[in-house]
Amino acid sequence: MKKNILVTGGAGYIGTHTLIELISAGHSPVVVDNLSNSSEEAIRRVEKIVGAEIPFHKVTVQDIPAMRAIFEQYSFNAIIHFAGLKAVGESVAKPLEYYKNNLDSTLVLLDLAKEFGVKKLIFSSSATVYGTPEELPLKETSRVGVGITNPYGRTKYMLEEVLKDVAVSDPSFEITLLRYFNPVGAHESGTIGEDPSDIPNNLLPYVAQVAVGKLNHVNVFGNDYETIDGTGVRDYIHVVDLARGHVAALNYSTPGVHTYNLATGNGTSVLQLIAAFSKASGREIPYQIAERRPGDIAACYASAAQAEHEIGWKAELSIENACADAWKWQSLNPDGYAGPINA
Ligand code: NAD
Ligand code: WQD
Repeated sequence: MKKNILVTGGAGYIGTHTLIELISAGHSPVVVDNLSNSSEEAIRRVEKIVGAEIPFHKVTVQDIPAMRAIFEQYSFNAIIHFAGLKAVGESVAKPLEYYKNNLDSTLVLLDLAKEFGVKKLIFSSSATVYGTPEELPLKETSRVGVGITNPYGRTKYMLEEVLKDVAVSDPSFEITLLRYFNPVGAHESGTIGEDPSDIPNNLLPYVAQVAVGKLNHVNVFGNDYETIDGTGVRDYIHVVDLARGHVAALNYSTPGVHTYNLATGNGTSVLQLIAAFSKASGREIPYQIAERRPGDIAACYASAAQAEHEIGWKAELSIENACADAWKWQSLNPDGYAGPINA
């Protein structure tokens, strides 16, 4: 059934890719984004890909009157809540900004959802809620909340708890907590992708900028972990697979809170990822071994069997696909959305 969907943070990296999948599944998304970490150009490019206009409101979710007007204008069937600040290091430096933005936006949204009777909500959670993993691969039932090392991660953990409490208080809510592992890659068109405003914090965009010549070399944060080659292991998931996970979650309808890992089940080390990107780009990627990064864990990967079993979703794209698509985006758009459209 076609749904009118409020997509907060829809101009961002995961949001833009999800808009494409929503529209190809026949849904009608409406975007609210304050462009604090994105640009309207991203929405324009999605519109080119899908060949349709997407209603866009440049609004901060905490702006209650503006949000109420949007709820009045559209009759939403569901909300996908991507909006949030997400830089781990910045959250340590500016904890109040992170707590205010991420917590307040979600609380405002929940109030409005109650007021307007929108009972289906999909929330962007994160592997970070598992803190120090008690077991690998992680399962949805694995311990959460122990060893989270930064305010950003704590906002995700706290919000999961808030959402569970809300669902208990009103059993007609259908809330899905999607715990993303490490999103990478880009749409195959090469016209949208991750566009960090500064030097990237995350590995893959950093590697991509080294490959394109914007940065000199990759610093590999530690090679003395107990992993296959001593470097950190993560579960990198193609952003298009991740986007499709939201469509699958929308189609599944049962009251209560449902939690899914959106992951591939495979761990890839830093050196393996550098090698895969080098192959995809045909470029040499110089790297240097550096100190461990504070707060990092050795390995993190997850089983997504629950998502496959309940919502019929599983990751289909490989790390090779992700590197090829990220390279296409990076090489065609070395200046991200600030540069000309090339495809
Ligand atoms: P992003 O920064 O590209 O997108 C988030 C969007 O939200 C941005 O466009 C930003 O302008 C907007 N925004 C932020 N606060 C807002 C507010 N108060 N009101 C309106 N708009 C606001 O990030 P992303 O990578 O697309 O992540 C989307 C969501 O997924 C976030 O909640 C993030 O924490 C979560 N997540 C991301 C990752 C990752 O590695 N990318 C991993 C796990 C979870
Ligand atoms: C991956 C691996 C690094 C950069 C973070 C957040 C997490 C989530 C996704 C939102 C690690 C190594 C990295 C570099 C390196 N976001 N690395 N050199 O740390 O798994 O997850 O982003 O929820 O909350 O913590 O991702 O890409 O930063 O690091 O060697 O320049 O690459 O040590 O082993 P991480 P990442």
